[in-house]
Amino acid sequence: MERAIKQKLLGQYFSGNRIAAALYGLLGEPIGKSVIDPMCGQADLLLPFKEKNRINGIELDKEAYYNAVRLTSNDNIISGNVFDENILDSLTLDGYDVVVTNPPFIRRENYKKATELIEGSLTTKQICHNLAYLVKKVNTLNSQQKDKISTYINSASGRTDIAYFSLILCIVITKIGGNIALVVPSALLGREYSVPFIELLKDLFEIKYIVNDVNSVWFEGIAQVKTSLIVAKRTDSSSAQNHIVVLDVFKRSLSENSIFSFLENGQSIIEFIKAKQEIPQKCEIQIIAQNDFANRLRIDATSKLKPFCTKNCHFTNIESLGISCGQGFRSGANACFVFEKVGQQYISKIGSLDIEPVKDYFLPLIQSQKVLDKNYSVCSDKYLAALLFVPKRYARTFDIRTIDDSIQQSYISLPQALDDYLSKSELYEIKGTPVPKLSAVRTNAKHDSNDVRFWYNLPDFTTRHQGTVFVPRVNGSSIVARANFNNYIVDANFITFWNCNEDAPSEWILALLNSSWFSILCEETGIVMGGGALKLDAIQLKKIPIPILEEKDIQDLNTLGIKLASLSSDASEPIISKIDKIIFGKIGTIDQTTLRKIQSIKKEYIERRL
Ligand SMILES: C[S@@+](CC[C@H](N)C(=O)[O-])C[C@H]1O[C@@H](n2cnc3c(N)ncnc32)[C@H](O)[C@@H]1O
Repeated sequence: MERAIKQKLLGQYFSGNRIAAALYGLLGEPIGKSVIDPMCGQADLLLPFKEKNRINGIELDKEAYYNAVRLTSNDNIISGNVFDENILDSLTLDGYDVVVTNPPFIRRENYKKATELIEGSLTTKQICHNLAYLVKKVNTLNSQQKDKISTYINSASGRTDIAYFSLILCIVITKIGGNIALVVPSALLGREYSVPFIELLKDLFEIKYIVNDVNSVWFEGIAQVKTSLIVAKRTDSSSAQNHIVVLDVFKRSLSENSIFSFLENGQSIIEFIKAKQEIPQKCEIQIIAQNDFANRLRIDATSKLKPFCTKNCHFTNIESLGISCGQGFRSGANACFVFEKVGQQYISKIGSLDIEPVKDYFLPLIQSQKVLDKNYSVCSDKYLAALLFVPKRYARTFDIRTIDDSIQQSYISLPQALDDYLSKSELYEIKGTPVPKLSAVRTNAKHDSNDVRFWYNLPDFTTRHQGTVFVPRVNGSSIVARANFNNYIVDANFITFWNCNEDAPSEWILALLNSSWFSILCEETGIVMGGGALKLDAIQLKKIPIPILEEKDIQDLNTLGIKLASLSSDASEPIISKIDKIIFGKIGTIDQTTLRKIQSIKKEYIERRL
């Protein structure tokens, strides 16, 4: 099986020696302990423990398993599915001193495929059944804890991520007094399905360290993910008073052999943390109360906005405020459908057309940030791209002849120039596939008895394709939300927003999305790409906590949004400050000093990623 496919079906991204060494260091370089990685891949995370501890590993993929056996020269590596009843039976019921892993994250659609293609795969139902069976048997939990975990397992749906069960398993097999050490995508800490896992971690463990890969560089070239390491000690008493050390590590501290290259010769990471050292641009330390560590709708304790939340404030999200959010329009073959206007011509990668005879078949398209100026609204289509839109019931003459006589009359032939252009496009290949056969283009074609459409009849647009406000998915410097009050089509390079109540005004959405509150939380939730640009995702934006706003706040924001829409970013500071006053005023007191602090946090975030 191809490597890339295997990676997807098995969630197979190996941690490598740098992360392994970091976890080993954060665990205090243990000696004489029982150590297990229940999804060990090629044993990367076990290798540092090998010499002075008893290591155990389980791996489903044969190739990785053989590598693990070879690299550890150890016979305690088992080949198979860790959720298999026989393998669970072979685990030590008193648990392990150290449970270390990077669990497999497998997208739902791929997991279904995996159960068909990967030998030894189990369905979610079988996993739940077997895991619940293990919970009953282990000596690591009391009966109340067992009941709680069993309820979590039994209430998981068929769509629950395998990573969730892997994390629960790790908790269940950690010995009391032992440690858990995990590599997880930072976004996991904000996923709805991980709430039970986080609650169990808070209930049963003293969370010692959370280390964040601020610039998403630890897995660079393999996966574009921001990763966190979590190290926690299993206790049998409450950890409510515990404090967690959160270490933000920047790309400058990554070397060939270490993610902590700032450590002096011989110094351990624990000594470094104890000394509360910080090295600008390499690492920052924060201490947060374990009680504040959560992933519900609230400002995370690690957020730089936390100190501003001095009132007892409740948060909501944009959807609950009546704002919908989605991704812009994807044509499936821009080479064919997206044109530039040059003089009197539309020009695409495939060919050119004189504007006059075909202009009715083109719509303005906000396609790239390059053509957007500093204004907060796109008022004219002068510099925009043009999207070739052939509505249903319009077709090439040749295609109309293929339609059943009974409905042929209702079809209109396209102008000859356009007809010729589409015929040329039909033969044009993108990465070896002709345009009409591209997966996102061929689905345009329909052959129902009274509705025949061809590959070039783009589907009808929905509200998300013409969002009233939009934000780039990839942001170079500051994040600017712009208004699209003319309802131009917005490309999938942007995330779009619109008011669920179409009759209500939308300018307040422009104001809210340009607030420093929203920008800073975007900086904290987005993914920093190689070159320092910030990548945003509609799903994450929907989860950003927003202070609950009253009707009066929305009206005031709307007035400011109207003003903002007529401004350019060079002249917007006074209005943004007024917007910030409304939003930050909901969570604490706000004066000029606070406003300046907020501005400098925003600036710092941009500077540190660029
Ligand atoms: C993200 S990789 C991490 C591997 C290793 N822990 C590391 O950090 O390098 C997850 C591993 O889990 C394995 N895996 C997936 N499902 C499994 C299962 N049900 N039982 C055992 N291993 C599994 C995959 O083949 C993959 O090697």
